[in-house]
Amino acid sequence: MDSTKMSLADFMNIQDVDIMERAERFTEFMEDVGRMKHLQYKRVSIDGSEPVRRIIDHYTGEIKEMIYFASNDYLNLTMHPKVVLAGIEAVERYGAGAGSVPLLGGTIDLHIELEKKIARFKGCESALIYTSGFGSNAGTLLALLQKEDIAVLDTLVHASIIDGCKNTNIKLFKHNNTESLEKALQKVKDKYRTKLVVVDGVYSMDGDIAPLDKIVELAKAYDAYVMVDEAHATGVIGKNGRGTPEHCGVEGKVDIVAGTFSKALGSVGGFIAANEKLVKLLTYYSRTYFFSTAMAPQAAASIITAIDVIEQEPVLREKLWDNIRYFRKNLSALGFNLGNSQTAIFPIIIGDDHRVREICRCLHEMNIYANPVPYPAVPKREGRIRMSLMATHTKEHLDKALDAMEYLGKKFGVIGNNEMVNT
Ligand SMILES: Cc1ncc(COP(=O)(O)O)c(C=O)c1O
Repeated sequence: MDSTKMSLADFMNIQDVDIMERAERFTEFMEDVGRMKHLQYKRVSIDGSEPVRRIIDHYTGEIKEMIYFASNDYLNLTMHPKVVLAGIEAVERYGAGAGSVPLLGGTIDLHIELEKKIARFKGCESALIYTSGFGSNAGTLLALLQKEDIAVLDTLVHASIIDGCKNTNIKLFKHNNTESLEKALQKVKDKYRTKLVVVDGVYSMDGDIAPLDKIVELAKAYDAYVMVDEAHATGVIGKNGRGTPEHCGVEGKVDIVAGTFSKALGSVGGFIAANEKLVKLLTYYSRTYFFSTAMAPQAAASIITAIDVIEQEPVLREKLWDNIRYFRKNLSALGFNLGNSQTAIFPIIIGDDHRVREICRCLHEMNIYANPVPYPAVPKREGRIRMSLMATHTKEHLDKALDAMEYLGKKFGVIGNNEMVNT
């Protein structure tokens, strides 16, 4: 099998073969990807989340020390001493797990403290915590929207939102395009019981920010509610790191604020923040919440402290933004296309998927850990290298990545002979 002529999408819906045959063909595809040294998924680290980590090389079995541009731990709070200590103290006091689902014996005082804290941080009346951000998005939408309702979605919303809309109707609008949103709202006007506009605050493959102020205004004008997924925005954007509503000046005006604790908050889990009555409804009707064991105590304790750190140590966010500005200025000066990225996520758009995989293979050999993002994760011919920054990357780390990208960009004909900007 020639993997260069295929993509992961080809194995999603193969007709007329059963699951074992599908798995067989997929394995042949992956073996060829491996032969080409294009297999950059599920690389194994033997260190925690740091800007430089030791990785077990898939191909040689050797341990490589790599500069890591693949983490969503934007403020590096996974390693913050106060956040780590809070987790240790909680595991000693409460043990390793919650022991039961939240409604039937699994809730501890730390869960309630975290729910209150994240609700306050997000400017909402109340909140509910889940064991993953995927579960909080999908579980909320599945609980709220049925066939009489409609979800009006940005085309690039996260998979958890799409999966959450399996029981309802969907109307898509063009990415971050408020004219297209207005047209969609006009089309669905007066036709459905509940209309819910759902967007990401910061888009995970593009790093751009939703124009949430305009989205809220339009939704109100057309009698629709708004839900925003703050996975990549919390802790990163907004003057105080409170996310997209703060950044766009609409705090308190978004009906449902969703998010994850697994990115800038440095742990694992998700949340929904909204008015008290809606949260009460979700507590009893959101199946990914009440049919799933409550969050581990050490995660809850670490996240509580992580929110304190975000509020008390703005210097971390300032360092992250210093890095973002420096990296963006230099990648742009080299001539790379970064789409509309405005945040710590850098989509370096390469185009052809084969070239994306080749560049990633070379980056791996040069000890730079970045992820290839080919079709179907992004549209055809918009394949990219995705790099994300942390507050703890040094200028030296960033310069090494810039040098590597300059060399590879020229070698593979992605950029011309532009120069880096020295600042
Ligand atoms: C935009 C977005 N929403 C939700 C999620 C899911 O969050 P979690 O990793 O906590 O399940 C992710 C990715 O992880 C994401 O990128």
